[in-house]
Amino acid sequence: MTTLLCFSTAFISIVTCFDSDSNLGVGVNWGTMTSHQLPAEKVVEMMRVNGFKKVKLFEVEKRIMEALSGSEIEVMVGIPNFMLLDMSRDQSYADCWVDANITTYAYPGGVDIKYVAVGNEPFLKAYNETYLQITLPALKNVQNALNRAGYGSQIKATVPLNADIYESPESNPVPSAGDFRSDIKDATIEIVQFLDSNDAPFTVNIYPYLSLYGNPYFPMDFAFFDGSNRPVFDGNYFYTNVFDANYDTLVASLTKAGYPDIKIIVGEIGWPTDGDINANVKNAKRFNQGAIQHVLSSKGTPVRIGPLEIYLFSLLDENNKSIAPGSFETHWGIFEYDGKPKYELDLTGSKRNKKLAPVVGVRYMSRRWCVLNPRVKELDVLAKEIDYACSLSDCTSLGYGSSCNHLTLAGNASFAFNMYYQLQGQSDWDCDFSGLAIVTKEDPSVGECRFPVTIAYGSSVVVFHRKVLKVFLGVVEGCIVFLLLVS
Ligand SMILES: *[C@@H]1O[C@H](CO)[C@@H](O)[C@H](O)[C@H]1NC(C)=O
Ligand SMILES: *[C@@H]1O[C@H](CO)[C@@H](O)[C@H](O)[C@H]1NC(C)=O
Ligand SMILES: *[C@@H]1O[C@H](CO)[C@@H](O)[C@H](O)[C@H]1NC(C)=O
Ligand SMILES: *[C@@H]1O[C@H](CO)[C@@H](O)[C@H](O)[C@H]1NC(C)=O
Repeated sequence: MTTLLCFSTAFISIVTCFDSDSNLGVGVNWGTMTSHQLPAEKVVEMMRVNGFKKVKLFEVEKRIMEALSGSEIEVMVGIPNFMLLDMSRDQSYADCWVDANITTYAYPGGVDIKYVAVGNEPFLKAYNETYLQITLPALKNVQNALNRAGYGSQIKATVPLNADIYESPESNPVPSAGDFRSDIKDATIEIVQFLDSNDAPFTVNIYPYLSLYGNPYFPMDFAFFDGSNRPVFDGNYFYTNVFDANYDTLVASLTKAGYPDIKIIVGEIGWPTDGDINANVKNAKRFNQGAIQHVLSSKGTPVRIGPLEIYLFSLLDENNKSIAPGSFETHWGIFEYDGKPKYELDLTGSKRNKKLAPVVGVRYMSRRWCVLNPRVKELDVLAKEIDYACSLSDCTSLGYGSSCNHLTLAGNASFAFNMYYQLQGQSDWDCDFSGLAIVTKEDPSVGECRFPVTIAYGSSVVVFHRKVLKVFLGVVEGCIVFLLLVS
C-alpha cells in the first residue's frame, strides 16, 4: 500500500517536474521550533491534499527534505543568521553548504528548490547591526556557490527582510513618501542591486497584525482586507488596507533606489490565534482568507498591479519559539501542534467555507492530564510551582485576552502543571510540584481553553533523536530508495 503510494508520488513528480513555474497559489512557512515534531511525510501529505503549492523552510532538515522529495511542492530553503558570518567570509563554506543542502536534494524528481533565503530578517533593529555588513557578502557567496554547482538559472538566493527597513516620514505618512530607513539604506540598496543583477526577487515580511499589536489607536478594519471606512489617500491612489499601503511603501523605496520593477516576494504574512486580545481564530481566519483572496484576484496593489506571491506564516504552532516579541509567538499556526486545522480556509479562492484536511494518523500519548490536586489545602508554594512550570513550558494561553484567561487560580495551576507534564512526556515524576499535583484521566478542558495531550512521536524524537527516527522512518526510507531507483 505504502509502496504503491510512493510509486505514484514518484511517478507524478517525474511527469510534472518540468512544468515548474507554478507561481499561482499560496505558499506557507513551515517552522520547526517545536518540542514534539509530527512525522514530516505526513505533514507533506497534508499540504499536498490541501493544495499548498509552495513551502518556505528556515533550515534544511533532512527528514523534511526527504519527505518533500517527489512532492510537487516548490521549496524555499533558509540559511539561519548564525551561519551568515562563516558564509560571508569563506566561499568554500558556501560551496559545502550548497553541496550538502542543495545538490543532495535538487535532482530531477527530488525536491523542487527554487529559492535560498540567506538569513532571516538580518536587519531587525533588535540585532544591533550584527549582520549589516555580512549579509551581502554571504548572499553573494551563496549565489556564487549555486552558480558553480550549475543551479544559477534555476535557484536564486534572496534575503527575507523585515518591513521596518522602510518607512514614510511622520509628517507625510503615505506610501509614495516611503524610503529605506537611513541607518540601513546603503546596505539595503547594495543588496537590491545584487538581487536585480541576478534576476532574483526581493523578499519582505509584512505583518498587519503587528501594526495593530504595537499601536492601540491603529484602526482595526485597516488591518484586514475587507474594506475600511477610513481609507488612506495618496495622490491618485487610495488604500483600504495596511498591507497594500505597506507593500507600496516598499515599492516607493525601491523606485527611489532605481529599481521600480524588481520582483517582490512576501516571505511571511499571517495572524496568530492566541496570546493576545486580537489574536484569535476569528481574526486569523478573516485575515488569512482575505490575504488569499487578494493573491488569487491577481489585482495586486494600487501601484503594483498584477499577481502577488506570498507565504503564509505559518503552518503549525511552534511551542518552543521565544515569546520575547509577545505571547502570541507560539500561536501562528493555521494548524495546531498536532496538525488539526484551527479554522476553515479556502486556498482555491472559491469563497466557500472550505474545511482544511488535518494531518492524518497522528498518535497521541495516553489521555492523561496533570492537575492541581483538589484535596490539597496547603498552597504556600503554589505560585512558585506555577512559575516553575511556566518557565519551562508554554503558558501563553493564560494571559490577558487569551483562550484560558478566565480560569480560576486553581485552573491556572492545573493548566501550568499540565503544560509542563505533557512537554516532559507524561512521566509520573513530572506531575508532583511539591505534592500539589495529581494525574487525572478526565479532560480538564473548559470551552475554548484546551488542555492538550502530547503527540507520541515527538517525545521519542526529542530524546533519542537518531535511533527512533530510523525505526519509524523505515517505511520512508523504503520510499526514498524507491524514488532514487525511479529517477
Ligand atoms: C527549546 O529552545 C531552547 C532554547 O532556544 C533549546 O535550548 C531547547 O533545546 C529547545 N527544546 C526543544 C525540545 O526543542
Ligand atoms: C546544511 O544545513 C544544515 C541546517 O541549516 C546545517 O546544520 C548544516 O551545517 C549544513 N551543511 C553544511 C555542509 O553546511
Ligand atoms: C543591542 O544593544 C543594546 C543596547 O546597547 C543591548 O542592550 C542589547 O543587548 C544588544 N542586543 C544584541 C542582540 O546585541
Ligand atoms: C491566571 O494567570 C494569568 C497569567 O499569569 C493571570 O493574569 C491571572 O490573573 C491568573 N488568574 C488568577 C485567578 O490568579
